[in-house]
Amino acid sequence: MVAMYSFKYPLFTRQLSFGTLLDLTEKQEAPQPYPSRPCRPRVAIIGAGITGVATACHIIDAGYDCHIFEAGSEDHIGGVWSQVNETSSLQVPSSFYKFHPAVEWSSLYPNRQEILGQVKKLWDNYDLAKRSTFNCRVENTYKEDGKWYVNSHSFGAFDGLVAAVGTCGEMYNPGMLGQQHYKGKILHSSQLAKSDVRGKNVLVIGGGASAVEALEFAVDNGALQTTVLARSEKWFLPRHATLNAALAATVGDRWGILAWIIEFLLRLFFYKELSEMAPPVNCEKGGIYSGTPICNSRVFDLIRKGRCQWLRGDVQCLTEDGVSFNRRKRGVLPGGEGELVVEKGQVVIMATGFKRPQLNFLPQSVKSSKYKSPNWYLQAFPTEDASIAAINCTWLDGIGSIGGGHIGVYARFLVAFLVDRQARPTTWMMQRWVDLVEMLKRPYKGGPLAFVTTMELYFWFLFMAAAQPSMWKWFKFIIMGPEESNGVPEQFKEAPLKSSKPVKFNPVYYDEKSGRSVIAETPVVLSR
Ligand SMILES: Cc1cc2nc3c(=O)[nH]c(=O)nc-3n(C[C@H](O)[C@H](O)[C@H](O)COP(=O)(O)OP(=O)(O)OC[C@H]3O[C@@H](n4cnc5c(N)ncnc54)[C@H](O)[C@@H]3O)c2cc1C
Ligand SMILES: NC(=O)c1ccc[n+]([C@@H]2O[C@H](COP(=O)([O-])OP(=O)(O)OC[C@H]3O[C@@H](n4cnc5c(N)ncnc54)[C@H](OP(=O)(O)O)[C@@H]3O)[C@@H](O)[C@H]2O)c1
Repeated sequence: MVAMYSFKYPLFTRQLSFGTLLDLTEKQEAPQPYPSRPCRPRVAIIGAGITGVATACHIIDAGYDCHIFEAGSEDHIGGVWSQVNETSSLQVPSSFYKFHPAVEWSSLYPNRQEILGQVKKLWDNYDLAKRSTFNCRVENTYKEDGKWYVNSHSFGAFDGLVAAVGTCGEMYNPGMLGQQHYKGKILHSSQLAKSDVRGKNVLVIGGGASAVEALEFAVDNGALQTTVLARSEKWFLPRHATLNAALAATVGDRWGILAWIIEFLLRLFFYKELSEMAPPVNCEKGGIYSGTPICNSRVFDLIRKGRCQWLRGDVQCLTEDGVSFNRRKRGVLPGGEGELVVEKGQVVIMATGFKRPQLNFLPQSVKSSKYKSPNWYLQAFPTEDASIAAINCTWLDGIGSIGGGHIGVYARFLVAFLVDRQARPTTWMMQRWVDLVEMLKRPYKGGPLAFVTTMELYFWFLFMAAAQPSMWKWFKFIIMGPEESNGVPEQFKEAPLKSSKPVKFNPVYYDEKSGRSVIAETPVVLSR
């Protein structure tokens, strides 16, 4: 239904200049939550998790437009949070998970429902339903005449791309040797609601945050004994907002001295007599500045009360009534020597994580670059093209929060790069920045950009925005956001992004006499 449109609505011309006539159907009613400008830049956002939704809001806040593409159906709004257990909750304090200024938390560690509620609030307030397409997996993106297209021409042209596909895709369920002989129940850690563990011995395979969640679920639901079978080393941090913030406010250290001190203090005051559970000193992967720590204060209490145990080792195979496990001592690497034991249990929970979504929908120029993710400009912009931002989906490990204010900062960097050619970094510059970080962080165990803390990210945001005179006019807006900074710099407020190619089209208007929509005979030309 293309009726009801007339030149009365400024949005009309904007729609025509960017999309197809079909797009008009989604803009039936006039009320707009933000002022509309003809030909304003439009960004394609891939993924409707907290990153995609928050980025969309930040882009709209800046006065520009966007469209979200989500592989799942409407019940995937909120991404991974929409798919996990009812009992799942945030690991970090909620004040670190303020992915948009409008987000308000009522609890310190909000649960899934509260998180999804905040996402839905943004979704409704920013009218994102009108700017989204569901059941649309992005397989391909390409550039023509300086404009981006997503999958095909049918969604119109975009000025920038945001990959917000997250790091947790489909559940990862590695087949275990002997699985067919096991007589108990096997389930994934994201399906806990379906399990009855009362009075049973529960075995949890995996040693990440999901393993902790599975352990707590089993204990809280009356399991007799719960045993976690963890393959690799991970640090536990107490759930303590100031301590968590202090750690996120460090940047690691070149010689490992700071890590040594922090690890020593954690062993002394937090692990105490359970210090055997802590990763060894100088641990290559899983040290405090090389692996993502788990924030939890309860596991040690439960171990002390004898309700559960946490074992280090390798699963050999599943037997009829349990798991054959090579139990290793601290410091012995996975696959190394240990003691073979059989842990018996009636339920096995696979807390083996999720498959990581791939970024292979990005163009060939990005895929063939020698600068591979996460070694991109500010960890998010592929060095080949600053009109692409991959937010929260390139990192491997870190200390901080995925739902932090950095999502807005990235979105505003992107806006600046899109509308201000002087601010847009060249490939040469972006690659030199990556080289610089690589040089500075060469001795760091986590790798140059694979492991970052919140502080480190913000240091580079500030540094890159301050070190280039072309960015100074953007500085306040990028770092503080539109509300605090009075929006984008004046010259970019109303000015549409100009392109060499004007857009020519025959508009559709509503003919009041006939009560029908009619295609105008005279074409209109809009310069972009
Ligand atoms: C139980 C649980 C607790 C957590 N707790 C914390 C915590 O305390 N602190 C923290 O910082 N993080 C936590 N996390 C990590 C969590 O992943 C992030 O906080 C955050 O939710 C990630 O959001 P996202 O939008 O980046 O990715 P996702 O939520 O994974 O969303 C990505 C979306 O992109 C879509 N998508 C993927 N590929 C495509 C494609 N090709 N085309 C179109 N759409 C696509 C997916 O369908 C999905 O909806 C937790 C995760 C879990 C599972
Ligand atoms: N409440 C919370 O805060 C919460 C809860 C759940 C998830 N999360 C988040 O969600 C993300 C995913 O966490 P996750 O714990 O699900 O996944 P994860 O961090 O990837 O951990 C998966 C674990 O499974 C192990 N594993 C994988 N395959 C295995 C195999 N074949 N045999 C034995 N062990 C195997 C891994 O060992 P290796 O390391 O040796 O590969 C790892 O210990 C993280 O960002 C996490 O912070 C948070």
